[in-house]
Amino acid sequence: MHIDPLERKWAYTALGMAGLFVSIIMVDALIHGINAPSHVETIDSARLHLSEEFAEDNLGVKVDAEGAITVRMVAGRYSFYPKHIAVPSETKVTFRWVSTDVLHGVHIPMTNMSTMIVPGYVAQVTTSFPKPGEYPVLCNEYCGLGHDHMWSNISVVAKENWTAPTNAPVTGDAK
Ligand code: CUA
Repeated sequence: MHIDPLERKWAYTALGMAGLFVSIIMVDALIHGINAPSHVETIDSARLHLSEEFAEDNLGVKVDAEGAITVRMVAGRYSFYPKHIAVPSETKVTFRWVSTDVLHGVHIPMTNMSTMIVPGYVAQVTTSFPKPGEYPVLCNEYCGLGHDHMWSNISVVAKENWTAPTNAPVTGDAK
């Protein structure tokens, strides 16, 4: 069978490119541990307000005894709650998102914070923000007529200027 040399050259080029992309994905997945988010944890969306973890007092930025930062946020048509949070730069932050109603998405432009928020599941993403600044937190899954207005704000504060919020008492404490 005769294959024109030019065609053969392009066939090898195309195969080589496909091979290169597959190997980049393999190196990222196997060596750098970069994988698609697949944190599977279920939650009853209709009872969020009664759940210990996502009760109103527990939302926002919390720091545990070991200094690990967790941000808990609720997405509901058409906002993210709380409306504003502040986190330190260059520090690992674990976000835990839940939806009270329909499918939402969350995206913080110019950072790698982006995930779907599927009702019935907890979406968890750990990231860190290299640059201090004010960023919007946008919904990027169409969720209804108010979708365009569904956003909140995050302040990334330089690490040395950030102070941990005082933790609200866990539900059940006598007031
Ligand atoms: Cu929420 Cu679009």
